[in-house]
Amino acid sequence: MHNSSQTDPPPTAAGTAQGFAHAKAILFGEHAVVYGSPAVAVPLHGLGVQADIRRSPAQETRIESQLFSGTAQTAPEPMGPVVAGLRAALSAVDDPDAEVELLIRSAIPHSRGLGSSAAVATAVARAVANLEATVFAEETLHEIVQAAEAVAHGRPSGIDAWAVAKPAPIRFQTGCAETIDVGERLVFVLADSGHHGSTAEAVGGVRARRDADPSRIGATISRLAELTDAAVDDIRSGDRVTIGSRMLEAHGLLGGLGVSNPTLDALVDAATAAGAHGAKLTGGGLGGCVLALADDDEAAEELAEALRAAGAPRTWTTEVRPT
Ligand code: MEV
Repeated sequence: MHNSSQTDPPPTAAGTAQGFAHAKAILFGEHAVVYGSPAVAVPLHGLGVQADIRRSPAQETRIESQLFSGTAQTAPEPMGPVVAGLRAALSAVDDPDAEVELLIRSAIPHSRGLGSSAAVATAVARAVANLEATVFAEETLHEIVQAAEAVAHGRPSGIDAWAVAKPAPIRFQTGCAETIDVGERLVFVLADSGHHGSTAEAVGGVRARRDADPSRIGATISRLAELTDAAVDDIRSGDRVTIGSRMLEAHGLLGGLGVSNPTLDALVDAATAAGAHGAKLTGGGLGGCVLALADDDEAAEELAEALRAAGAPRTWTTEVRPT
């Protein structure tokens, strides 16, 4: 699996160019971030997507992916973000009407809160830039990916678009992303609940709850913001125990926003019973994944086993390296 970087390899002799991006997990602040609060995301380097692109010999654009293979014109609705991202990227290189052949190979499960749509758009945009022997500036890449994300999720905060493009953990707030220094290595286990979660539906549900009860939901969002900023300090100092306890509190608060469910709660309970410092749902919720913080690699193995025994169809272990 490739790690994403700002500099993708040059086009091959056959005229095919590639782009890569990785998945992300939100460690703190999902949903609250939609209302201007900070959030923290970590890169998942072991889970990635590769896009291969070349100019089409025919007068049409073709896309090949796990979800759909055929012409861009006949692509079904779920492919809308890919087509939007591709067109935005081609416009950004002043070639909006170019016809291309695009092959997308992704190991990132979709609708699991792992930033699959943003990662695909990022890989596609990097491949387009690479085809033109250029590299998009960070802001340009971000705008392209946000165009795709708007089709995927409505009005995304923008954290996913940054998180899948940055190689290190970030603190994101109101459009700005900054890299966080990491004091100690952190080992996380990610457990798939086995159920899709729609980010758009989850965000819509929180909005409806906030409209109905602004003071309660406002207080929850404020507390999530406090936890996020306190956790940034813990990440810097490498305090796993405190990060873990804040994760558990955040999971409870997200439950109060209506985005958890019994399957996610059971995985969080299983993680704590198996010795995790903490665990919480990650991303939009209503399905998707639980992220658990292990003490070390050995503990992570036991944790992953316990999470699978508790019903997770698959788990991934990922590390955040000290800087
Ligand atoms: C999705 O990864 C994170 C949410 O906060 C939505 C967003 O930020 O746009 C749920």
